[in-house]
Amino acid sequence: MNVSDVLTIAVSKGRIFKEALPLLAAAGIVPAEDPETSRKLILPTNRPDVQFVIIRATDVPTYVEYGAADLGISGKDVLMEHGSDNLYEPLDLKIGRCKLMTAGRPGQQTVASGRLRIATKYVNCTRRFFASQGRQVEVIKLYGSMELAPLVGLADQIVDVVDTGNTLRANGLAPLEHIADISSRLIVNRASMKMKHHVIKDFIRQLADAVTQR
Ligand code: ATP
Ligand code: PRP
Repeated sequence: MNVSDVLTIAVSKGRIFKEALPLLAAAGIVPAEDPETSRKLILPTNRPDVQFVIIRATDVPTYVEYGAADLGISGKDVLMEHGSDNLYEPLDLKIGRCKLMTAGRPGQQTVASGRLRIATKYVNCTRRFFASQGRQVEVIKLYGSMELAPLVGLADQIVDVVDTGNTLRANGLAPLEHIADISSRLIVNRASMKMKHHVIKDFIRQLADAVTQR
């Protein structure tokens, strides 16, 4: 089979893959190995013309944008942060649902003096959110464990995804302001959408049916 005939789908291990598996199965695509235990980065499937590439969640839009993958499954938080102008986003998979929020010590909305300091891995979303409200903040980029920042005086607040609120509560923090509702989206490379139109269109239709029937 010619490489250009293979459909490559970029997906991250963990929550997104786990929740996407039943939808992909309903669309007729089953990985040949368990992605959680396999160390392979290219995973074949039951279909010779479809493969997965297993990458970090934050890298999925990059692979799809550059055409290293035709399709990808990515959280809306990641897409908002990366920017999705160069991608198609044809389908909300309605998995990985959470909210992007500011959080801090319960009741705290402002600091007494100076600019509010926000620690987050979502620096672009954070700047946009506060700028849209005309509020000046200092944004500190972190790569994880954001909840720690207000506890040790690194920041006044954080911006992170919240689902049950358990992580915040366990660290004495509370959700403050809602920024966006988040769910995972199917994304498609623009050139692939033209070159592999029929197979991608069929795949989107089958996935959309699976989402509706879920
Ligand atoms: P990376 O490895 O690139 O830093 P990550 O560790 O954030 O990514 P995951 O924790 O698997 O990767 O999260 C992937 C996506 O799942 C997030 O981008 C978000 O859209 C969604 N998500 C994250 N946390 C939750 C949650 N608690 N409940 C529901 N969905 C979530
Ligand atoms: C994510 C996120 C938050 C937490 C929010 O982390 O970075 O820390 O989930 O979810 P909650 O409001 O339900 O606590 P992670 O991927 O580590 O989540 P996990 O603890 O669910 O694995």
